[in-house]
This record gives sequence, structure tokens and C-alpha cells, in this order.
Amino acid sequence: MAFRLLTARVTARRFIGAVSLIVLAVAVAFRNRGHETKAHCRLVPGDPDWPGQHDWDKLNRTVDGNLIATTPISSVCHYSSLLGDKGNASNYDQEACDALRDVWFFPQTHLSSPSSAMSYQFSNNSCNPFLAPDASCTLGHYVAYTVNATSTAHLQAAVQFVKRHNIRLVIRNTGHDYLGKSTGAHALAIWTHHLKSIELIEKYQDSGYQGSAIKMGAGVEALEAYNFASSHGLMVVGGNCPNVGLAGGFTQGGGISILSSKFGLAADQVLAWEVVTASGDLVTASATENTDLFWALRGGGGGTYGIVVSMTVKAFPDSFFSAAYMTLLNDGSNTDAIYSTIGTFLKSLPSLVDAGAWVVWVAAPFGFLVIPAMVSGLHQVELDSLFKPTRDKMDQLGLQYQYSSAEYPDFLSSYNQIPSTWNVSDYHMGGRLIPRDLVEDDDSNEALVGAIRHITSQTLMSGVAFNVANAVASPDEVAANPYFRKTIFSAVIGMPINYTDWGENKAAQDKITYDLLPALQALTPQGGVYLNEADFQAPDFKSTFYGGNYERLLAIKTKYDPESIFYAKTAVGSDHWEQRPDGRLCSTTSN
Ligand SMILES: Cc1cc2nc3c(=O)[nH]c(=O)nc-3n(C[C@H](O)[C@H](O)[C@H](O)COP(=O)(O)OP(=O)(O)OC[C@H]3O[C@@H](n4cnc5c(N)ncnc54)[C@H](O)[C@@H]3O)c2cc1C
Ligand SMILES: *[C@@H]1O[C@H](CO)[C@@H](O)[C@H](O)[C@H]1NC(C)=O
Ligand SMILES: *[C@@H]1O[C@H](CO)[C@@H](O)[C@H](O)[C@H]1NC(C)=O
Ligand SMILES: *[C@@H]1O[C@H](CO)[C@@H](O)[C@H](O)[C@H]1NC(C)=O
Ligand SMILES: *[C@@H]1O[C@H](CO)[C@@H](O)[C@H](O)[C@H]1NC(C)=O
Ligand SMILES: *[C@@H]1O[C@H](CO)[C@@H](O)[C@H](O)[C@H]1NC(C)=O
Repeated sequence: MAFRLLTARVTARRFIGAVSLIVLAVAVAFRNRGHETKAHCRLVPGDPDWPGQHDWDKLNRTVDGNLIATTPISSVCHYSSLLGDKGNASNYDQEACDALRDVWFFPQTHLSSPSSAMSYQFSNNSCNPFLAPDASCTLGHYVAYTVNATSTAHLQAAVQFVKRHNIRLVIRNTGHDYLGKSTGAHALAIWTHHLKSIELIEKYQDSGYQGSAIKMGAGVEALEAYNFASSHGLMVVGGNCPNVGLAGGFTQGGGISILSSKFGLAADQVLAWEVVTASGDLVTASATENTDLFWALRGGGGGTYGIVVSMTVKAFPDSFFSAAYMTLLNDGSNTDAIYSTIGTFLKSLPSLVDAGAWVVWVAAPFGFLVIPAMVSGLHQVELDSLFKPTRDKMDQLGLQYQYSSAEYPDFLSSYNQIPSTWNVSDYHMGGRLIPRDLVEDDDSNEALVGAIRHITSQTLMSGVAFNVANAVASPDEVAANPYFRKTIFSAVIGMPINYTDWGENKAAQDKITYDLLPALQALTPQGGVYLNEADFQAPDFKSTFYGGNYERLLAIKTKYDPESIFYAKTAVGSDHWEQRPDGRLCSTTSN
């Protein structure tokens, strides 16, 4: 109304109008150029279409003020100021930096951060806490922003935002991932860590299961679930580390558990998922609804098919446990005897896992450890007898060793005895599933010990032994790598991360890929790999990580995520994308 009265300014208006038209035309041209890239690459800051402050503020309001712009936690160690749009202030604080260095390798340090990843090697070394203060600190491959989600609506808002603006999306829970799947350059992260709801369903009932179940939010950590279950006289299938998330990458990737030899993989326990899909819809995936998605999420890999909001799993009556620990140190003169003992130990694994045990062992230049063997419903004397062949062997060889065992009234008291030396950010990773026949047959056993010796005379290797062969009616009942069903242990190789000589790290990972893992691959042709404990460089990941399930999983991914907004290194469908040196994520298929 008012502007009609401003007749005196009409001429000026026309002029401004004409200028506006030109500006508009230029903007459209830019936008079109943006769209041209859109089919191929996700945007990065500085691109003409990258959202402006106004867009981020709007997203922030939609997620109730829970949008966080990334500040690398190591920025306290450097003079350099962060990105321009965050002002010029440096975060440098030597005292805070020293404190950070002291706790850098603890999971908790990264767990509470919205952006830090526990596998430092995927940060692009952009803000290194162990370098001098004058070294630069940039975002590198950390995400640009994080939505600290506390509701389903926040997850949906983030999905709509990345689709509208063509931005890379990363789903982050605890940040434990060993393959760098919970970080990504220039991305918006959805952080599920604070989705902590947990409830007991006393009488869950569907066509396949009747009994206790626990429904937990996507952010519930293993120990939180163990404590909750225990308070109801129950236990759930979870992993070793107390703060790995249960409903995130762990169960979605398969999930090797302390209870696996009793009940199966974590993926085998799932009764239902609630999921925000790429369309932004909240759906249930269960034995009766969205059954293809239900199948895929049970082991087909995290960060691929949708954002899990909650998971409902079987819960089992708590029970007494036995556990055994063993230490055999290499003093330089007993190396042959140690590897001979390892051969005997490996041969005893079938009897241990068939009795229900989960057996964690470590071999390294310093020696051989079992930390621990843990089993429910088996008495200490019975567990001791299963270690008798190994102990007899050591006695016969005149080896000095320590063996101890104990019996506990319930899961938690046994679990709490496991030494919590769970350092992270310290190793490059590779893995291989070792089939049962390899330890049973004498010749293969010897060859396996030879391969283990090749590896562990140079660096550290761990094995986690279990038996999930009969946990499902058929290996393809769930999407988890079918190779798990014939596995006796999951072997993991670690090479130290070098924080002071970055160039060493490529060489260390290459050593895993091209020297250490091949020693195990040679013994396991057409073998399998646990996708959560794997070499991110694996050229054959489609077949080794997913077994024969890859094409079926890809079809399900394409159905639920046709625009491929969920991307993670080595995830199903990820080979259609590449991350360029500047961090830009681009599609490699032209359409
Ligand atoms: C110290 C340590 C101990 C471990 N012990 C075991 C063990 O005993 N047994 C075992 O099987 N594994 C073990 N792992 C491996 C572990 O299972 C993986 O690191 C797993 O990916 C962690 O899942 P997360 O959700 O906690 O971590 P994140 O790094 O946050 O996420 C891992 C992956 O899952 C995706 N994701 C996370 N949340 C969701 C969600 N809500 N919806 C969809 N996708 C999601 C992410 O995008 C990412 O791709 C261990 C790892 C560490 C570091
Ligand atoms: C989002 O809003 C909250 C609350 O207003 C604010 O503290 C926070 O800094 C905002 N985040 C961003 C990235 O601007
Ligand atoms: C584990 O990490 C802590 C804290 O960063 C460190 O002090 C300790 O030496 C590490 N332990 C091992 C075995 O590497
Ligand atoms: C990663 O590091 C390389 C080498 O320092 C650099 O050229 C590249 O720009 C970095 N990428 C990002 C996204 O920071
Ligand atoms: C994320 O949200 C939770 C729950 O509201 C809150 O406790 C936590 O402090 C937030 N974290 C960050 C880094 O803002
Ligand atoms: C890192 O590399 C440097 C130089 O090659 C070497 O001196 C140092 O021992 C290495 N550190 C680790 C932890 O491997």
C-alpha cells in the first residue's frame, strides 16, 4: 500500500528494478551452474550455492538451536584462528592443550565432541594436537556442522536440509568407526549420541519371538544397555568396549559380542528398527513391515540405508559367568615356544567357543595374552579344563606364564573385571575372518601360526573367537556377512599412527594392505572380512565385507535412498562416489 504513494521515487525504482533483473539473471546463471555440478558433486563452502548464514540460522531454529559449527577439539593447541566466518579469535591455550594431550587416546575425549573422530588418520591431519602451536589448524576432513539431535524431528530437518542444499551428510553416533565412516569433509553431521531413551518390553511377541526385549534409542552405549538390562535381571548382546553405541555401527555392521557364542551376532537379536529414511519419513522395519530394510539393517553396514532412531532387541535372563586371563611374555629366548603354544591354543578354540565362550587374545612382539575368555553358564573348573591343553603345552615347553580364572554371579560383575584399556586414535587397522577349519586341521594350523608370526613379530594383532554357526536358521536370514557363520575368530591387525611424521601413516596402512593382510588372505581365498574391523583400502570390499549379499543390499539401498544421500567409505553404494583431494565428494557415475 505505502509504496504506491511514493510516486516521486518511481523513476529510481525502475532503475533499481532493472538492476535487480540483471542481478537475478546472473544469480540464475550461477544457480544453473550450481545445478550442473549438483548431479556430480556435493557442495563445499565457497561454492556459489553453499547455504548462507540465513539458511544455517533457519536450520538452527528448526532443530531448536542444536546446530553446532565445528571447532576441532585440538584447536586449543594452535595459534591459528579458525575459518573466517567464525571470527579471528584463536583458541590457543597451552594448559588446555597439555590436558588434551594427556587424554587424547581415551574414547571419552572424542565421545563428547560433536565432530572429533576416534580414528585420527581420517582427519587429514588438519589440526594435530601433538604438533607445535604454530602448525595450522583447519577443519580438514572434520564435518562442517553438526545437528545435536534430541528428537526425530531434528533428524528429519537435517535430511531435508542436505537434500535441499546438496550437502554431504554424515551420521555420527559415538565416532568409534575404524574406517572413518563417522566423519566427512564439508559435511553436515547428524549426531545421534544424545538419543538415550531405553525401555523394557516384558512380553514382546511376534511370529518369531516371545520373551523379554529392550527398546533403545540410537545413542545408547553398551554399558548403559548392560546396566539397564542388569537392573531387570537381564542381559543383552553387546560388544567389548563400554561406550561403543549398540544401535549404530555395531549392530548394523553385525556386532561381535561377549554373548555371541550363546546367542549369535548382535544383528541376529534385532526385532525392530525405527528409521528416518532419505525421504524424511519415519518408518518401522520389522518382520512384518519394510522387511527388506529390516534385513539390510541387520548387518549390511551403518550409515547406508537410513538413520536408525531406535532398535528393539531380544534380552536374555542374566546368568553366572566364568572368565580366564593368561599372560605369556616374550623374553627374547622363548619365541619358538610361544608360537608353538599359540598353535595349541588356536586348536583349542573350537572347544572353547562351542562351550559358549568369547575369547579375546593378543599377539605382539612382547608376547601373547588372553584378555579374557568369558563364558556364561559354565563353571570355573570347566573353563580351566578347556585351557588345559594350552597350559600343558606351556609346561611341557618350560614356559613361564600367568593364568588366572574366576567365577562371577552375573554378567556385570564379570564384565567389570575386564581391564578397560580401550585406547583409540592410536592404530591403523586391517582385519580378516578366520574360518574354523583353518585351526582344526594340523597343516593349516601350522600355516596359520606362520602367518600370525609374520605379522606379530612386526606389530600387534588381536583375535576375537566365537561361534555363531547355528544362531540363525540360514546365514541369509540377516544381512551380516554370511562368512561369520563359519568363522572361528576375527583377526585384527594394528599399525601405530605416527602423529609427528604424517608421511609414515600412508606407509603403515599400505603395509597392512599389501604385506600383513595378504599373509592371512593367502590362507583364506574367497574369504571374509568384518566390515567394522577392516582395512578401508581393501580393493575387494564388495565381496569380502558383504559376502554374496552386496547386490541385494545395493538394490535395497537404491530403493530407500535413490539420491544416495547416505555415503560412507566402503559402505554399500560407496563405489559410485569418490572423495577428491580437496575433500569434495563427487559421483563417479554420470547420469
Ligand atoms: C575400542 C573399540 C572396541 C570395539 N569393540 C568391538 C566389539 O567388541 N565387537 C564389535 O563387533 N565391534 C567392536 N568395535 C567396532 C565397532 O562395532 C564399530 O566401530 C562401530 O562402527 C561403532 O559404532 P558406533 O555407532 O558406536 O560408531 P560411529 O563411528 O559413530 O558410527 C559407525 C558407523 O555407523 C553409522 N551409524 C551410527 N549411528 C547410526 C544410526 N543411528 N543410523 C544409521 N547409521 C548409523 C555411522 O554413519 C558410521 O558409518 C570396537 C571399536 C572400538 C574403537
Ligand atoms: C544455534 O542456536 C543456538 C541457540 O541460539 C546458538 O547457541 C548456536 O550458536 C547456534 N548455532 C550456530 C551454528 O549458529
Ligand atoms: C592410552 O592412552 C593414555 C591417554 O592418552 C596414555 O597415557 C597411555 O599411555 C595409553 N596406553 C597405551 C597402552 O597406549
Ligand atoms: C588435506 O590435506 C592436503 C595436504 O595437506 C591438502 O592439500 C588438502 O587441501 C586437505 N584437504 C582438506 C579438505 O583440508
Ligand atoms: C547436545 O545435546 C545434549 C542434550 O540436550 C546436551 O546435553 C549436550 O550438552 C549437547 N552437546 C553439545 C556439544 O552441545
Ligand atoms: C614417527 O616417525 C618418526 C620419523 O620417521 C620416528 O622417529 C618415530 O619413532 C615415529 N613414531 C612412532 C610412534 O612410530
